[in-house]
Amino acid sequence: MNGSRATALAPRVAPRVRLRPTLQSDLDYVLTLEQDPQNLPFITPWERTQHEAAIRFPDFRHFIIESGDALQAAGFLILIGCKSQHRSLELKRMVVQHQGQGVGRAALRVAKKVSFDDLGAHRFWLDVKTHNTRARALYDTEGFVVEGVLRESVRVAAGFESLTVMSMLAHEFADRRALSLELPA
Ligand SMILES: CC(C)(COP(=O)(O)OP(=O)(O)OC[C@H]1O[C@@H](n2cnc3c(N)ncnc32)[C@H](O)[C@@H]1OP(=O)(O)O)[C@@H](O)C(=O)NCCC(=O)NCCS
Repeated sequence: MNGSRATALAPRVAPRVRLRPTLQSDLDYVLTLEQDPQNLPFITPWERTQHEAAIRFPDFRHFIIESGDALQAAGFLILIGCKSQHRSLELKRMVVQHQGQGVGRAALRVAKKVSFDDLGAHRFWLDVKTHNTRARALYDTEGFVVEGVLRESVRVAAGFESLTVMSMLAHEFADRRALSLELPA
């Protein structure tokens, strides 16, 4: 078999991923990722002060995604509602630096584990721009259920965009875990 074909067929090795709390000194990195033109169409970037608040407020968890052998910064994600009496946590944002290499899936698995196991979530939810096919494919294959569409709810330069709301409940996470679908990606 020719070498390049063998490479093409080789299964992707799942990246090692870890989450650690974001520090003030990480915020230049976070803001640079948010402002990257490849990411801007899919998110509504925050001011630095909003990230600073998210680092401090107990209801938020702001994480740097670390990946690779050296566990270098590979992205960030933010959870909201960590103190919610309703135990309904939101994945507010996830941005990965080098995309399409499995880091997003691996980080989402860790985020689910943190949300359900550590933070006691009953419901873990998110909204995603309806045109964000990559992120939607990821959430779909990670077991998130579509709840509905917030039609034309985001104002952008070209008009309005819709958001798809997706969620997973604690018993659905437990079912996936029982099926070994929640192993490290
Ligand atoms: C969305 C995002 C976090 C996903 O992380 P990632 O590391 O790129 O994703 P992965 O490599 O783990 O791929 C996850 C799945 O997305 C889908 N996917 C990957 N690349 C894709 C592409 N170019 N087009 C469509 N779907 C794609 C596939 O289903 C893939 O799973 P598979 O390769 O195992 O079949 C990342 O692409 C990102 O930061 N995008 C910009 C910001 C953003 O959209 N954030 C989410 C806002 S809700």
